[in-house]
Amino acid sequence: MTPIFRKIPTTAVPIAVPQILRAWFNRDGEDNIALFEKEIAEWLGVKDTLLVNKGTTAQYLILLAMKQFKPDRNEVIYPAYTVPTLKLAFDKAGLITKTCDVSKETFNMDPESLAEQITPKTLAIIPVHMFGFPCALDKIIEVTGKEIFVIEDACQAPGAKLNGKMAGSIAGSAIFSLCKGKNFSTYSGGFAAFQDIDLAVLTRRERDRLPKNPAGIKTAALLLAYALAMRPGVYGTFYSFIKGYKSTEVHKSFDALKFNDLQAALGRILLKQLDIYNSQRKANGMFMYQELKNCTHILLPEIIPGAEPVFNHLPVVFLNESGRIRVQRKLWEKGIDSARMYLYPNHHIYELGYRKEAFPNSKIIADGMVTIPTHPFMVQRDFETIIKIVKKQR
Ligand SMILES: Cc1ncc(COP(=O)(O)O)c(C=O)c1O
Repeated sequence: MTPIFRKIPTTAVPIAVPQILRAWFNRDGEDNIALFEKEIAEWLGVKDTLLVNKGTTAQYLILLAMKQFKPDRNEVIYPAYTVPTLKLAFDKAGLITKTCDVSKETFNMDPESLAEQITPKTLAIIPVHMFGFPCALDKIIEVTGKEIFVIEDACQAPGAKLNGKMAGSIAGSAIFSLCKGKNFSTYSGGFAAFQDIDLAVLTRRERDRLPKNPAGIKTAALLLAYALAMRPGVYGTFYSFIKGYKSTEVHKSFDALKFNDLQAALGRILLKQLDIYNSQRKANGMFMYQELKNCTHILLPEIIPGAEPVFNHLPVVFLNESGRIRVQRKLWEKGIDSARMYLYPNHHIYELGYRKEAFPNSKIIADGMVTIPTHPFMVQRDFETIIKIVKKQR
């Protein structure tokens, strides 16, 4: 029997209250930001990392640095199906946003569609490892050539691997987000990661100019509320209150700020448990993936050769709208929340100079997508419920 107040949130990261207290008391003791940057770089296998207040800020700073290397180039290409607000970073850096389609097989950037969008003005392209499924980076890098920068967006993929290397450690630079809903999360935050050390030096200079983002008792209280709200008992009991904090609107701007010592101290603690929780997500996601992969009424992303996905969610595209609506309703009735990431392709949200019919795969995926939770608070019974409901609703 499902306990009446237990509801599985769409995303969750186990954070214990004593871990937040430990971070609070350790926040001033050491240079937590510098130490956290060093520890992330070691974990990821990159030469440098830079912490900031958001993944979008990391994106913005990397682009500012890239512009200094190639001032005659001013276009950036990102997939039509991904988090829309990356565009805010391109705008803030004074660049022109272009987009390309994703593959219907992988839900990630389609190298052929990308090739059609590249011009002599292209400064950078942003392949995104959506939902923790590594994209075809080798092909993308081949299409891109040597003159154009590649920035991996590994915000949803910390711990995913491609050919034995961590997502976010393959191209010259990458961005990660530590915001709500990510596998690795301190409520908010983000970082840039670098194999290209010259780029890291210039980006650090830009980062050091950003305003401070001090954390006080309010941030500590927010972290406590966040840690508690993700627990199925609390989520179910206080759902009508928590719902109000779930943002569905597309933001119109962002503040670029430094990171802070409190979240860095917490991040250092959470990094130590990341591999364990990621392996649970992988097992949870893979169990459902294997059970559902032969269903003909849905699409699941292909796991490309050499890829080890980390299942930020299990993304399921329903080919029939009424089936999608029914599945979300039935899941909720059984105490499992699900989400719709992202409702529209980016060229439908923003005026980017493309026809609405362009990039049809992105539209199919946005129309049918339901993101299913995979997090460590879930138990076998939840997976069986999900599989049964998805299989049944054609
Ligand atoms: C793929 C992807 N890129 C970028 C971002 C932006 O990160 P942040 O919200 O920390 O700015 C996110 C976060 O939602 C994301 O999922």
